[in-house]
Amino acid sequence: MTKLEIVQGDITQQPDIDAIVNAANDLLEPGGGVCGAIYRAAGVDQLDRAIKYLYEDDDGVSCLTGQCVHTPAFDLPNRFVIHAVGPIWPATPTAYDRLDDVRQLGMQQRRETAQRQLASAYSQSLILADVLGCKSVAFPAISTGIYGYPPEQAAEVAAEAVTKTVIETTPGIELVRFVCFDQNTEELLRSALVVSAVEVLFPSDNTDEQLTLPFPT
Ligand code: APR
Repeated sequence: MTKLEIVQGDITQQPDIDAIVNAANDLLEPGGGVCGAIYRAAGVDQLDRAIKYLYEDDDGVSCLTGQCVHTPAFDLPNRFVIHAVGPIWPATPTAYDRLDDVRQLGMQQRRETAQRQLASAYSQSLILADVLGCKSVAFPAISTGIYGYPPEQAAEVAAEAVTKTVIETTPGIELVRFVCFDQNTEELLRSALVVSAVEVLFPSDNTDEQLTLPFPT
């Protein structure tokens, strides 16, 4: 059984964790926020060199949104950094959204895509950590800073994706820690985890069946 923990703190200060997750960009470049903190703590030059050595091809370095790659953690006290690319929240309608054109994705569809990509960033990170033999993983609140994903919705997606993945796919991961930078994120995640744990353990599909079971007479 995987233990899920929520703490308030800094993702770079989790010495007991095998793999910490970076909220990366799709070019895997050093950035601000979590990304900047992780690069500084790992050593900017060596992390940057590792990314280029491992993942550069003729088109440069890139990682699809919703996917992840890993590097050593270098000067961080962890074994690995998993660089997961969360989605940018589609906040402003584009010209396409205003066009009555079925070939273009509307705002609602783009938000649904973002939701799937965010869930994927969490689940793929856990799967990669498991393949790497990690027993513990720490996540920041991916996409909720510079990428603008609304924190409450992001917490729901994170909670559901992580709960499902550790139960269905990566039971070997013993500890998942959500490292929240502020109290609001922590509270949102705490509520979302309770809801998703109940939904995963008691799926609503079964409710009718349970209610209509014949009672002994
Ligand atoms: N530890 C834990 N959480 C942190 C830390 C930290 N050291 N620093 C920031 N946070 C929190 C933010 O408060 C926010 O809630 O992490 C969450 C994610 O914020 P961002 O780092 O801005 O990540 P994201 O929204 O996914 O944007 C990714 O930002 O830094 C760039 O290269 C990165 O382009 C990418 C984009």
